Amino acid sequence: MKGVWWLALFASGVLSKPRCRCLHGHPCWPTEDDFSQLQSTISQPLIHPVPPESACYPESNPSGNCTDVQTNAFFGNWRADQPGAMQAPNFETFIFPNGTIEACYLNTTLGFPCEQGNIPTIGVDARTVEDIQAAVKFAADRDLRLVVHNTGHDYLGRSAARGAFMLWTHNMKNITASPSFIPEGAPENETYYALTLQAGVQWHEAYDAAHANGRLIVGGLIPGGTVGAAGGWMQGGGHSAFSPQHGLGVDNVVQFTIVTASGEHLKANSYLNSDLFWAVRGGGGGTYGVVTSVTYRTHEISPLTATFVSCSPSSSAVRKDILTEYLKLWPGLSDAGWGAYLGIPTASNFSVLMVAPNVSLADTNATLTPFLDVVRNAQDAVIQITPFDEFYGFYQAFFGTPGPEDGHNTELVSRLVPREVFDDREHLLDVMMSLDPVLMLHVAGGQVSQNDPDSAGVNPAWRNATALILSAAIWEEGVTVDEYRVIQEKLKYDLAVLESLAPGGGTYFNEASMYEPNPQHTFFGDHYERLKVIKDTYDPTGLFVVAAGVGSEDWDSSLNCMLV
Ligand SMILES: Cc1cc2nc3c(=O)[nH]c(=O)nc-3n(C[C@H](O)[C@H](O)[C@H](O)COP(=O)(O)OP(=O)(O)OC[C@H]3O[C@@H](n4cnc5c(N)ncnc54)[C@H](O)[C@@H]3O)c2cc1C
Ligand SMILES: *[C@@H]1O[C@H](CO)[C@@H](O)[C@H](O)[C@H]1NC(C)=O
Ligand SMILES: *[C@@H]1O[C@H](CO)[C@@H](O)[C@H](O)[C@H]1NC(C)=O
Ligand SMILES: *[C@@H]1O[C@H](CO)[C@@H](O)[C@H](O)[C@H]1NC(C)=O
Ligand SMILES: *[C@@H]1O[C@H](CO)[C@@H](O)[C@H](O)[C@H]1NC(C)=O
Ligand SMILES: *[C@@H]1O[C@H](CO)[C@@H](O)[C@H](O)[C@H]1NC(C)=O
Ligand SMILES: *[C@@H]1O[C@H](CO)[C@@H](O)[C@H](O)[C@H]1NC(C)=O
Ligand SMILES: *[C@@H]1O[C@H](CO)[C@@H](O)[C@H](O)[C@H]1NC(C)=O
Ligand SMILES: *[C@@H]1O[C@H](CO)[C@@H](O)[C@H](O)[C@H]1NC(C)=O
Ligand SMILES: *[C@@H]1O[C@H](CO)[C@@H](O)[C@H](O)[C@H]1NC(C)=O
Repeated sequence: MKGVWWLALFASGVLSKPRCRCLHGHPCWPTEDDFSQLQSTISQPLIHPVPPESACYPESNPSGNCTDVQTNAFFGNWRADQPGAMQAPNFETFIFPNGTIEACYLNTTLGFPCEQGNIPTIGVDARTVEDIQAAVKFAADRDLRLVVHNTGHDYLGRSAARGAFMLWTHNMKNITASPSFIPEGAPENETYYALTLQAGVQWHEAYDAAHANGRLIVGGLIPGGTVGAAGGWMQGGGHSAFSPQHGLGVDNVVQFTIVTASGEHLKANSYLNSDLFWAVRGGGGGTYGVVTSVTYRTHEISPLTATFVSCSPSSSAVRKDILTEYLKLWPGLSDAGWGAYLGIPTASNFSVLMVAPNVSLADTNATLTPFLDVVRNAQDAVIQITPFDEFYGFYQAFFGTPGPEDGHNTELVSRLVPREVFDDREHLLDVMMSLDPVLMLHVAGGQVSQNDPDSAGVNPAWRNATALILSAAIWEEGVTVDEYRVIQEKLKYDLAVLESLAPGGGTYFNEASMYEPNPQHTFFGDHYERLKVIKDTYDPTGLFVVAAGVGSEDWDSSLNCMLV
C-alpha cells in the first residue's frame, strides 16, 4: 500500500522538484542557436562579462590588458565601465556551501586561480527599450536568473549572480531637459522643470546636464559622481546632502518608464500605474522590472556654504568632546536644510563636510562656533569654510577629481537614527565611540521628514530620521573562508550595537548588510505588505529576484530555487 501511495503522489506532481532557475552549465542553458537568435533581435553584440582582474591571468583572459587593470582598478568610473566589475570586488566572488571561494584576485602572487565567481557569463548591452524587452523575454521564456547591472555599486551584491544572464544598462545615456514637463495624465498646469535620464546615466553626467540648464538636481554625492542616477540609487530611496533641503531621490521623481516581466513598456507617475510608481520609489532595485528612464524635477540654484573640518583627536576624551559639540548641532541643522557627511575611519582621524544651503559664510561660522572651537584645539586641525554661488562649483571642488579610492572589499552595517535619539545624546555618543570605523550621513530630516511617509514606497523610517549611521569592514583580498567568517562576526556585532540605538528601527536598503535578522521590516517597515502585493501584480512569476528584495523570501538562500 505504501508504495502505491508514494506513486500516486509522484503522478500528481506533489513531490515534483521545486522550480529552480536555469543556470549557466545546466543542460537547460540556452544553446548557441538560441543565443544567435537573440543576437538577431538586439542592437549590440552579446557581451561576455569577466571579472576585470582576469586580464592579469593570460590563461583565463588572453586578450586582457593587465596594466590597464592595475592602473584603474581603484577608480570607480573605470569599474562602472566594466560589465564584469562590482565596485567592491568581494561581490565578484562566490563562496560555495563547503567554504570554497571562487574568485579572481588582482594580486596574482597570492597564487589562486582566476575564476568567474559571481559574474554572469553572458548578457545584453542594452541601448534601446527594444533591447531590454528582448532580453527580458529571453530570460523569462527560459527561466534564467536575470541580473540587471548598471554601475555595480550595490552593497548587497544585487547586480551580480553566479550563472546568471546579465542585462547591462550602463550605455543608455540619453538625457533630455524639459523646462515645462507635464507627467502623462496630469492636468496641463502641473509642470516641472525636469530632466529625464535614461537608465545608464551616472550622477556626474546628470550634474553636468543640470548645470547646463542652470538647475539643481538632487543626487548622490560621491567622488567622480559614479553612482547610477536612474538605477538602484533611486529605487532604494536615494539620499544626498541636499535631501534635507529638497527631499530624497524618490521624492523628486515625477515619472519613470519601465519594462515589466511581461515585456510591456509602461509609464508610471501619480496618474498612470500609480501603484507601481509608489513601489519602485524606494521598494528596491531589480524587483519590479527594468526602469528605462527616470524623470526628476529640478530646483532653482541657490548659494551655499561648505564647511570642511578635519583633525586627529589625540585621545578618546578629545574625540568625545568633538562629537558632543557636533551632535548638539543636529537635528536643528537638518531642520534648516543642512546636510553633512561625517567620517571617523580610525580613532585618530575625524572629518566632516557640511553643506549649508542659502546660508552665508559669516552665519555658517557663527552657527558652528562651539563645534569649531573644540576642533581648533585638536591636533592637525583643518577648518575651511567656503561659499559657493551654486551646487556645481561645490560638487567640482569636493567630488570632481576622484582619487584611487574604490575597488576595495567592503561590507556595511547601518541604521537610520531617529530624531529622538539625538535628544538623548549619551547613548548615541557611546555607540559612535565604540564603532570602528563610523560614518554619519546627515541626509535626512528637513524636507525628508516633511514629506508624507506614505507618498512613496521607501522605508517610512526615513521620515523620522535625522541621520544614517554606518560601520564597515574593509579587507584585503585572498582571505580564507574562516577569516571571512571573523569579518562577518564583527559586522554582526556592530549591527547589534547599532540596533540598540532604536530597537525595531529601520535602515537604508542600499547601504546595509546581509545579516539583518528581520530584513523585511528593517528595510521596508510597514510598507512591506503593500510592496509585496504590487511586486506580485507586476511580476507574478518572480523573474526579478535580488538579495533581501521584496519577494525574495519566496526563494531559497541561493535565490535560484523557489520555496514551495
Ligand atoms: C562608493 C559608493 C558611494 C555611494 N554613495 C551614495 C550616495 O551618495 N547616496 C546614496 O543614496 N547611495 C549611495 N551609494 C549606494 C548606492 O545608492 C547603491 O549602491 C545603489 O544600489 C547603486 O545603484 P546603481 O544602479 O548605480 O548600481 P548597481 O549595483 O548596478 O545596481 C543596484 C541595484 O539596482 C538594480 N538596478 C540598477 N539599474 C536598474 C534598472 N534600470 N532597473 C531595475 N533595476 C536596476 C540592480 O539590479 C541592483 O539590484 C553609494 C555606493 C557606493 C559603492
Ligand atoms: C594597456 O593599458 C594601458 C593603460 O591604460 C595603455 O597605456 C596601453 O596602451 C594598453 N595596451 C594595449 C595593448 O592596449
Ligand atoms: C566545494 O564544492 C565545489 C562545488 O561543488 C567543488 O567544486 C569543490 O571541489 C569543493 N571543495 C572542497 C574542498 O570540497
Ligand atoms: C600580494 O600578495 C603577496 C603574497 O601574499 C603579498 O606579499 C603582497 O604584499 C601582495 N601585494 C599587494 C600589492 O597587495
Ligand atoms: C536620445 O536623444 C536623442 C536627442 O534627444 C534622440 O534623437 C534619440 O532618439 C534618443 N535615443 C533614445 C534611444 O531614446
Ligand atoms: C491647476 O488648475 C486647477 C484648476 O484650475 C487648480 O485647482 C490647481 O490648483 C492648479 N494647480 C497648479 C499646480 O497650479
Ligand atoms: C589620521 O591620523 C593620524 C594620526 O594623527 C595621522 O598621522 C594621519 O595623517 C591621519 N590620516 C588622515 C587621512 O587624516
Ligand atoms: C534663499 O534665501 C532667500 C532670502 O532669505 C530666499 O528669498 C530664497 O527663497 C531662498 N532660496 C532657497 C532656494 O531656499
Ligand atoms: C569665524 O568666527 C570666529 C569667531 O568666533 C572668528 O575669529 C573667525 O575669524 C571667523 N572666521 C571666518 C572665516 O569668518
Ligand atoms: C514616526 O514618528 C511618528 C510620530 O512619533 C510615529 O507615529 C511613527 O510610528 C514613526 N514611524 C516610524 C516608521 O518610526
